[in-house]
Amino acid sequence: MRSALLTCAIAGLTAVHAIPTIKAKGSKFFTSEGNQFFVKGIAYQLVPDDPLLDAKQCKLDADLMKEIGTNSIRVYHVDPEGDHDECMKTFEDAGIYLWLDLDTFDTQIEQNSPHWNETQLQAFQKVMDGFHQYDNLAGFFVGNEVITKENGTLSAPFVKAAARDLKSYRDSKGYRKIPVGYSAADIAINRPMLQNFLACGSNSSESIDFFALNTYSWCGDSSYSTSGYNKRVEEAKDYPVPIFISETGCNTVPPRDFADQAAVFGKQMSEVYSGAMVYEWIQEANNYGIISYGPKVDPESPNAPPDGFPRSGKPTPVDPDFANLSKQWKTLNPTGIKESDYKPTATAPACPSYTSAAELQWLVNGNDLPTVGATYQASASATQSSATPTGGSNNGEGQPSATPKQGLSPGSPVREVQGMGLGLFGVLLGFFWWM
Ligand SMILES: *[C@@H]1O[C@H](CO)[C@@H](O)[C@H](O)[C@H]1NC(C)=O
Ligand SMILES: *[C@@H]1O[C@H](CO)[C@@H](O)[C@H](O)[C@H]1NC(C)=O
Ligand SMILES: *[C@@H]1O[C@H](CO)[C@@H](O)[C@H](O)[C@H]1NC(C)=O
Ligand SMILES: *[C@@H]1O[C@H](CO)[C@@H](O)[C@H](O)[C@H]1NC(C)=O
Repeated sequence: MRSALLTCAIAGLTAVHAIPTIKAKGSKFFTSEGNQFFVKGIAYQLVPDDPLLDAKQCKLDADLMKEIGTNSIRVYHVDPEGDHDECMKTFEDAGIYLWLDLDTFDTQIEQNSPHWNETQLQAFQKVMDGFHQYDNLAGFFVGNEVITKENGTLSAPFVKAAARDLKSYRDSKGYRKIPVGYSAADIAINRPMLQNFLACGSNSSESIDFFALNTYSWCGDSSYSTSGYNKRVEEAKDYPVPIFISETGCNTVPPRDFADQAAVFGKQMSEVYSGAMVYEWIQEANNYGIISYGPKVDPESPNAPPDGFPRSGKPTPVDPDFANLSKQWKTLNPTGIKESDYKPTATAPACPSYTSAAELQWLVNGNDLPTVGATYQASASATQSSATPTGGSNNGEGQPSATPKQGLSPGSPVREVQGMGLGLFGVLLGFFWWM
């Protein structure tokens, strides 16, 4: 009796302290306690391999992140075989969720000669297997900036197929409904077709659970309209799943004041967007860091990191950027809507039609998704009308993503084409079928 009571008491305590899980409902995220969730995140990839293995380092970083109100980190690559328990617990204790890219070090979906095969599927599944059990795992990305060229849209069906298959795997294993989404480079010419394509169609099992945008269009003394954020909101206001900024923090006009955060979490934008993630935690050659682990060292010195930037130790704010971000976030705490009061109304957007217009390109027609193992083949006989996609509007103002790719951080590596001649793309525009 007594021990039963004790067990109950402990179970009760555990329940009280566990971090609520995150789910997507309609176009918003909610905690399992029924509150709307806004991402206040930081990109966190200290080392090229797996930043969630060094428990001591996680603790040092989590403590400082917590001080400025961070509730999310984004990690681009992990080793699914590693032991992540301690780091995940440390971040959970700090109230910090993980948004994790599923592709491992060499399994990302390629823009050139795209394919989605069994090797990739199994690698993604392993990452899901390794992380689904953590309550502070908020969401998975099936890709980061797969499409970086203005005309790279032929790989979009492979991205969507990956989301379909990982959602289906998640459900078949009985995992909780962890949202599965995509993180896009901000390519003006594909807006809003890419986001619409990934969410279109009558079968939501085949669509992404959320869309996220890496955008560097708010630089220096910008504004809601100058940056094009107003247009992003316009494009997303009827979007059926959550949308947020998965990288931001233009650094071309230093110091950064992160004034865009006030817009993101302000009234206008927070009704449509679910927050933002700042690029990035660690200072390295690309100069986006908000902390450093000490001064740069001579890369030639013993044990020096290849770029000379220390990759572990006590995090020291890079000011004024760190302090500026902290000041912004302190005042920005939207509460949104309670899940119980929220009735989603948005429906899936129409699938964009093929168009090869100069300022508005979408080279996919319809919503045919490849099965696992499919490659594509361009069709010489195909003729396509250049119908204008509904809802398309290219403002020509937003700058294409200048996603940082230098340093050890893993913006998605853009690989060279192998095998498949890229020339085919130019000649045999667009139409392809699955083999
Ligand atoms: C999948 O594609 C990769 C290249 O990206 C290749 O190395 C691998 O062998 C392929 N797997 C299968 C099962 O065909
Ligand atoms: C929806 O898509 C899933 C995944 O491809 C499939 O298993 C299911 O049969 C589809 N449902 C309908 C009604 O077509
Ligand atoms: C950012 O830092 C600069 C330099 O310290 C300061 O002048 C400015 O007021 C700060 N901006 C914000 C929004 O905190
Ligand atoms: C895509 O753009 C590249 C240049 O960036 C060009 O070589 C290629 O032909 C284009 N492909 C299509 C399908 O237009």
